[in-house]
Amino acid sequence: MTEDYIKSLLDNNQEWVKEQLAEDPDVFKKSAMGQEPKVLWLGCSDSRVPPNEITGTKPGDFFVHRNIANLVSYTDFNFLSVLKYAVEYLGVEHVIVCGHYQCGGVKAAMGTASHGILDNWLLQIRDTMHFYEDELEKLTNEAARFDRLVELSAIEQVSHLGNTNIIRGAWEKGNKVQLHAWVYNIGSGFINTITGGIYSVETLKQHCKFEKRG
Ligand code: CO
Repeated sequence: MTEDYIKSLLDNNQEWVKEQLAEDPDVFKKSAMGQEPKVLWLGCSDSRVPPNEITGTKPGDFFVHRNIANLVSYTDFNFLSVLKYAVEYLGVEHVIVCGHYQCGGVKAAMGTASHGILDNWLLQIRDTMHFYEDELEKLTNEAARFDRLVELSAIEQVSHLGNTNIIRGAWEKGNKVQLHAWVYNIGSGFINTITGGIYSVETLKQHCKFEKRG
């Protein structure tokens, strides 16, 4: 069965090539010449949140990094390398952090069960949870708390982005690369935007601090 499934993927690929060529006979020649994506997308690895499909974009439009719960970690050289390359070499105009409701990573961080190495990765979400404890505790139902933590975590990731020397350095040089916090609703297909486009340290402070306690 598994082999049949893998074979179907390769068959689909052959069909896809035919369809693409029917639409534009030069599509792959153009693709091979290079990329000029306008967006760096940081999303969750969740299979239900495919960046191009949900935004109606095509190969070449997004430079993409995905990890569990779409986190920006200052010690993650994988993501920081992607960010540097996207901002400094590809010149993306936007960095979109896209979380999603029902995120398994966020749910795991809210619980007490152990998930081995994953617990270390998800620790940052627990920090966010403690930081916004007052706001979250006011929400009486668990589902609302879960949804809100997903949103707050996306905002926190934008705040982290704005504090990297890559983004700060770009802003200091006059590059107005914009940061966005989005949350995708798996149950409806719609995207909620949590903050407007942030393009300076000042706007970062305004957008990322207004809902914090105190
Ligand atoms: Co997720």
